Amino acid sequence: MSTSPNPPVVVPSLLASNHGRLADACLMVANAGLEWLHLDIMDGHFVPNLSFGPQVLADLRPLGGLFFDTHLMLDNPHQYIEAFARAGAQQITIHAEPDYPVAKTLTRIRALGLKCGIALKPGTAARAAEPFLDIVDNVLVMTVEPGFGGQKFMADMLPKIAQFSQWRFERKLKFRLEVDGGIDDETGLLCRAEGADTFVCGTAWFHAPDRKSFVKKLTA
Ligand code: DX5
Ligand code: ZN
Repeated sequence: MSTSPNPPVVVPSLLASNHGRLADACLMVANAGLEWLHLDIMDGHFVPNLSFGPQVLADLRPLGGLFFDTHLMLDNPHQYIEAFARAGAQQITIHAEPDYPVAKTLTRIRALGLKCGIALKPGTAARAAEPFLDIVDNVLVMTVEPGFGGQKFMADMLPKIAQFSQWRFERKLKFRLEVDGGIDDETGLLCRAEGADTFVCGTAWFHAPDRKSFVKKLTA
């Protein structure tokens, strides 16, 4: 087990907010003193749900100055990179599972001046992301089956987090290790103990009775 070289960050997921009031949700995150916002983009094929597209990001972009951490859950993410970059995404994380040129797409994200990341579904082994470790800024370990917020954290993902943490340490890399799905102030700490540093919190943050102490507990 090794600790992260990066400061911990709590990243509220817009998916868990009221979608009739996305602008309010953005401002709520910024007013809470947080700097990152997680945007889940779903196509109804790679995951059994639909969310929102580039226009929503572009319209939210002026609000709160947040870092747009964009998670593409798409079968064909390589066809949407420029659109999300234009819309104001600052980091784009793409999945390893679909059949498309992953390394080339990561390089294209980089070439646009954005940070890039690789994501894995729970059933995908860590080695699927291994070839990309030295070109990514972020590794996203899904800790629920992607598609919906409000699911239960899968504790059997902890060894996968530990594996990435070990590779990061051994290879002197600096990528962020992001966990997504069922993260609250307890499950997040379990992940942090294995080296995770980026905590996507949908339901838990938006419904926390005391958001300040929630964030403090995860990042102390
Ligand atoms: C799930 C998404 C998550 C989701 C997490 O497919 O990738 O980002 O918003 O929501 P919670 O924190 O409610 O599990
Ligand atoms: Zn996500």
